[in-house]
Amino acid sequence: MLKVFGLAFVGLLSTLLIANSVFANEVNIFSARHYDSDVQLYQKFTSKTGIKVNVVSGKSGALEKRIIAEAGTADLYITADAGRLGAFKDNLQGGLTSSAIKSAVPSNFRTSKWVGIAKRARIVYFAPERVSGAELAGLTYESLADPKWQGRLVIRASNNIYNQSLVASLIKNNGKGKVAEWSKGMVKNMARAPKGNDRAQILAVAAGEADIAVANTYYLALMLSGKKGAEQQAAAKKVKPFFPNQDGRGTHMNISGAGLVKGAPNKANAIKLVEFLLSEEAQNHIVNNTFEYPMIAGVSPHPLVVNMGLDFKQDLKTKVVNYGKRQADALEVMTAAGWK
Ligand SMILES: [Fe+2]
Repeated sequence: MLKVFGLAFVGLLSTLLIANSVFANEVNIFSARHYDSDVQLYQKFTSKTGIKVNVVSGKSGALEKRIIAEAGTADLYITADAGRLGAFKDNLQGGLTSSAIKSAVPSNFRTSKWVGIAKRARIVYFAPERVSGAELAGLTYESLADPKWQGRLVIRASNNIYNQSLVASLIKNNGKGKVAEWSKGMVKNMARAPKGNDRAQILAVAAGEADIAVANTYYLALMLSGKKGAEQQAAAKKVKPFFPNQDGRGTHMNISGAGLVKGAPNKANAIKLVEFLLSEEAQNHIVNNTFEYPMIAGVSPHPLVVNMGLDFKQDLKTKVVNYGKRQADALEVMTAAGWK
């Protein structure tokens, strides 16, 4: 009797194992975000839904190659910058159109193939002892090319996706010809040939190598938090943020986002995960760990980001899908101007 029971049990177990390998309740994420906090977030999703989250992390370029090479594996591609998601759109599929997604994310921050999960602004940082309020009044991205900033500006290289998206937005708003001229003015105004990441630009202003820098909002908060060490924390205290284009369309906004991969084997689970990332719980977790702005209404950013000022006008008119569409033009005008 015991033997019979044992055999029956083994039979049931092997049936369950086979079922599990065929209909595994999982979702495969390829993520260019390198935050431990994202892993904690996926664990929360798993405990709520029972859906296992498999994460492949790496740099965006390498991940994109892998997603294509291992077709039928990836469900979601998570990365920073709408320009990057836009440039990868031929490898993504529509489907991120549920009412939960549409009601959470304003239409300028999503397409059917990818949606923003957090926001960031690309802004100007200045040294208050060398740049007066009067000098900054009415500052726009366009006016960064004015001769008054000659030899005073630092910004990273033209191969950087954040710059390509910023310049793409300028092309969308001003036309390619005007932005080609603007790029020449920018190169003339540079205090040095572009080098380093966004934090390196903020550090250059703090060190007196330049008066103004262009960098994303979350980097200042990250430096102020002390997570990058006491030296960067002290440097961050020497600069102030300025939000450009306040009298016009508003400050340039970008996203971290998730794209639904073509041939995704767990499409329904992928959509569920995106919906979870847009929940109040997940948004609070994201903004408090990465210093980004929440994508949904009703969630407050990290206090260090709140201190930078929340009452600025965001550019909600320029759809971020244009960053991918105008990316080649952006790189072309920067390169032609000698922007390294
Ligand atoms: Fe970044």
